[in-house]
Amino acid sequence: MDSIVITGGKPLRGSVKVSGSKNAALPIIAACLLTDQKVTLTNIPKLTDIYTMKHLIENHAGKIEVIDKEDQLGLIIDCSKIDNLTAPYEIVRKMRASIWVLGPLLARFGKAKVSLPGGCAIGIRQVDLHIASLEAMGAKIEIKEGYIYATSNSRLKGVHFIFNKVSVGATINAIMAATLASGETRLFNCAQEPEIIDLCHCLNGMGAEVSGIGTSEVTIIGKKYLHGTNYNVMPDRIEAGTYMIAAAITKGELDICGIDYHIIENLVLKLKEAGINVVDLGNNIIKVQYVGILKQVDIQTAVYPGFSTDLQAQFMSLMSLSSGTSIITENIFENRFMHVSELCRMGANITINNHSAVVRGTNYLSGAEVMASDLRASVSLVLAGLVAKGETKVRRIYHLDRGYQMLEEKLGKCGADIRRIVGDSV
Ligand code: UD1
Repeated sequence: MDSIVITGGKPLRGSVKVSGSKNAALPIIAACLLTDQKVTLTNIPKLTDIYTMKHLIENHAGKIEVIDKEDQLGLIIDCSKIDNLTAPYEIVRKMRASIWVLGPLLARFGKAKVSLPGGCAIGIRQVDLHIASLEAMGAKIEIKEGYIYATSNSRLKGVHFIFNKVSVGATINAIMAATLASGETRLFNCAQEPEIIDLCHCLNGMGAEVSGIGTSEVTIIGKKYLHGTNYNVMPDRIEAGTYMIAAAITKGELDICGIDYHIIENLVLKLKEAGINVVDLGNNIIKVQYVGILKQVDIQTAVYPGFSTDLQAQFMSLMSLSSGTSIITENIFENRFMHVSELCRMGANITINNHSAVVRGTNYLSGAEVMASDLRASVSLVLAGLVAKGETKVRRIYHLDRGYQMLEEKLGKCGADIRRIVGDSV
């Protein structure tokens, strides 16, 4: 298993180009199952989660041609000859996003069998809302032997449906299914994440009629047929946010290129509150500059446009070096503090009280061997390593390869002393 070794203490300077969004690309690839025509996608990041989704589509007998460019992939996806409607456990267990084939397969073929994704390190992560919305559209759903068996004797029917809880995943599945249902579907209490907006734009490019895009109330006029399109996936706001925090934590200065300032304003506001200079340079370039004392800031994770749970761990690394005490509250997942014990091994002073972490700022962190259990936790340890005294070794970095394209190259180019050890011991 590979490791990353970092010698901390180098302020990052220069510019970082943001890659395509993983969390937008994954549902958009699944949406290609809705049509028998070719869909061409560009700005797809080179990440293991993308290869897992490719594998899943190919398992359903979809064909994917890959155009491998230096910093991104193009995918030409042909789902004209789908003959296997089962998403098996061997693939689904690797990536929860696999659940997004459920809505498209059911809507187009009237049948799907998808392995239950199960929990994961950060929490239980149920799928009841996915199922409830599809049942409301007329699907019969049974759970047995670890699988979701979904069938529909006729076309799914447009419906008015309220999500009991805001869910990114369930909103995505319901919107995709409704594009091929008969009549109008109105979904209330939808998640409003930019990645859902990106998916809706792609679906409309395929001939769907989705409106209310980016609001909590989405309306879909179902079509009998969707067609092919070309679509360029949005940039990754979580990757961008991670590099913004990297500039701040290393007392450096970075231009983050290819990301709209407004899409990440929730992080910008918190960084500014902490005393970091953040400037919108226009043309999708954001300058992030450390200018002095790092102040403590409290955060509460929330659905968009609140502070993203996917940036909580990284912000905690930053706050572990603030001049005061910060309270970080995780409201989305019940077990998303697993980076805390590893950060403490590096000298951070953090205690957990239910859903909140009390982060008392300390003067410095020291390098250590650390190991993380999920994607964002792993990168929070890399951020801590960039500023820690001495050497930090981060183990189990396959998590990082799921979500950060060319992490060592991007950080190294800005002055970080970081290298990968391929095939290091577990
Ligand atoms: C969540 C995050 C998303 C992040 C992703 C990966 C939110 C709202 N969502 O998306 O930003 O990119 O994790 O870290 O911040 N739930 C149910 N029943 C369901 C579906 C979800 O109870 O059928 C619950 C979940 O357990 C969770 C909450 O609803 O507590 C939000 O879940 P959801 O948004 O669906 O999670 P992801 O799509 O994984």
